[in-house]
Amino acid sequence: MSTYEREYQFAKNHPEQFWAAKAEQLDWFQKPETILSRDENQIERWFPDGIMNTSWLALDYHCQQGRGERTALIYDSPATGARKQWCYRELRDDVAKVAGMLAARGVTQGDRVVIYMPMIPEAVMAMLACARLGAIHSVVFGGFAPNELAVRIEDAEPKVLITASCGIEFSKVIPYKPMVDKAIMDSRWKPEHVIVVQRPESPALLNKERDADWQVLFEGALPHECVPVRATDPLYILYTSGTTGKPKGVVRDNGGHAVAMKYSMSAIYHMPQDGVFWAASDVGWVVGHSYIVYGPLIHGCTTILYEGKPVRTPDPGAFWRVCDEYQVDVLFSAPTAFRAIKKEDPQGEFIRRYSLERLQAIFMAGERLDPPTLEWVQSHTHKPVIDHWWQTETGWAISGNPLGIEPMPVKPGSSTKATPGYVVEILDEQGQHQPCCQQGYVALKRPLPPGCLPTVWRNHDRFESGYLSQFPGYYVSGDGGYIDEDGYLFIMGRIDDVINVAGHRLSTGEMEEVVGSHPAVAECAVVGIHDELKGQLPLGLVVLKNGTKMDIHQLESELIGQVREQIGAIACFHHAVVVERLPKTRSGKILRRVIRQIADGENYTVPSTIDDPASLSELENTLHHQKSG
Ligand code: COA
Ligand code: AMP
Repeated sequence: MSTYEREYQFAKNHPEQFWAAKAEQLDWFQKPETILSRDENQIERWFPDGIMNTSWLALDYHCQQGRGERTALIYDSPATGARKQWCYRELRDDVAKVAGMLAARGVTQGDRVVIYMPMIPEAVMAMLACARLGAIHSVVFGGFAPNELAVRIEDAEPKVLITASCGIEFSKVIPYKPMVDKAIMDSRWKPEHVIVVQRPESPALLNKERDADWQVLFEGALPHECVPVRATDPLYILYTSGTTGKPKGVVRDNGGHAVAMKYSMSAIYHMPQDGVFWAASDVGWVVGHSYIVYGPLIHGCTTILYEGKPVRTPDPGAFWRVCDEYQVDVLFSAPTAFRAIKKEDPQGEFIRRYSLERLQAIFMAGERLDPPTLEWVQSHTHKPVIDHWWQTETGWAISGNPLGIEPMPVKPGSSTKATPGYVVEILDEQGQHQPCCQQGYVALKRPLPPGCLPTVWRNHDRFESGYLSQFPGYYVSGDGGYIDEDGYLFIMGRIDDVINVAGHRLSTGEMEEVVGSHPAVAECAVVGIHDELKGQLPLGLVVLKNGTKMDIHQLESELIGQVREQIGAIACFHHAVVVERLPKTRSGKILRRVIRQIADGENYTVPSTIDDPASLSELENTLHHQKSG
């Protein structure tokens, strides 16, 4: 049996023993005696009687162990030209003061704090400060519009909201504060306090009653100690797109998460404790939570916070420059970032300008790593390039090539095998196992390993109905795929109405709600169509209300504006096409999959349930004309 196989089987057959041993590697205030139990909802919970603090594990513990002078955080911002570093001691001290300033604003254990910030060090400090207090942070990605922020504020009911005066995208300065003001105005829930990091590029006007300047509070703040919390207490809520307009608040607990982070850093990424880990993502996404902030710091590594892009900040050598300058051991980003680099530097000339001697591996996730991108990155960097598959819900990789256990040969298009702790199975509609190489629902056998969500924030029914009830004993991932004869997993894409744009997960259902609310639109469908750079882009098909006389270009620009305003620029909704009707089943269900296949010029089979097959050829003609026009 291979080393991987042994570890996988042990975790599968003796999960409690396996995870109890992994938990031993953390510095608990009170070690858990119970490893796995069930909560009042009959959901498996890890380490229920363990007492700990995530900020302690990420900062104080390392200082206590004499590693206080090691670099914890490197901030590199081509967006502003700023660079700064914190050692563990300095970061602990700053985080303790931020915790103190939140405590002075009344934040205590279990309170929520919404963080809507660009990629600046204060965002990392704010997250760790919440963890220190046992408060629950909810970071909202800066590319979301006020409406999205408002929805999250209403659901999380934060006592405090932390923001910055602006973000910087390429050279564009984006004021955040007006978006925060609008979100709070539109939200039924009002945070008591708003704390603003003032950036010189565009300082914000502060509302004296409610807002405060981060720097002023920070200077007057007293450091706050780590508050002991139960392993099962929530560390954060992170909202992610579901199939409806309302995002789901994925809840992450403290203890299971810390154990999973620690294990993944060595088993998956094979990171030495004194290594430099760089997740080129954003703290607004789960990758940023797990591998910019918590994973590397809990492991004692140096982490990099990069406020820039893979290209044009200032050139396609940006990633390689950072890897060289900070001696990065492991780089992690989304395939779309490398497609952007490849587009601007097809021959890899910028790669050769830098030394990648220290770089051990490049990991990718967020979307399927397409074989041409895999091949290009491999051949130009001569490094192992690893696809690994995970979701906001799990918080860490479900499958991958665990370099720290046993590297396995890479198969293009596959995210290799299940990470020990996960049991991945392919099921058909009836919940029966699919034979080898047959596509089906990718499901995870319960119990899910530590770190995975135990519920949806204040909506446990949604957790049950969205993930658990379809196949008893399993969690459904929402992805389709198959396992081949060697046990390799191939994720083929979502089987629901979620699309993936530049590694960002978005709901077409939500876009449909926005497009459908336009007064001229009778009905609509939004599908994700193939895009060379971003993987997918949304395309809206709209049927006009009878008698509507409106210039279609005007309509398209209004719809684009509406999606941008209500969901955000990040939705990348740039195309809407007027059609006579939408292909539907006899029961009235829109055939989104076929629409997508037609839009992508793929072969498709006419579903037997179709109401009128002629609707498909009509659609083909319309889209064909649109393309050639
Ligand atoms: N705050 C405000 N606006 C933001 C934002 C943020 N944090 N992030 C993105 N936006 C805006 C962009 O400015 C852009 O606006 P525009 O339509 O006015 O130009 C829009 O949202 C779309 O952004 P994006 O899809 O990122 O496209 P881009 O052209 O700006 O950049 C890439 C393309 C490929 C370079 C970029 O998507 C990238 O670096 N991707 C890496 C993937 C990644 O980090 N994934 C996270 C999961 S690992
Ligand atoms: P998010 O929750 O934003 O991380 O998005 C999770 C979704 O992104 C998954 O359900 C998949 O659809 C997709 N995804 C993430 N990583 C991969 C991968 N390595 N291969 C294929 N799809 C992926």
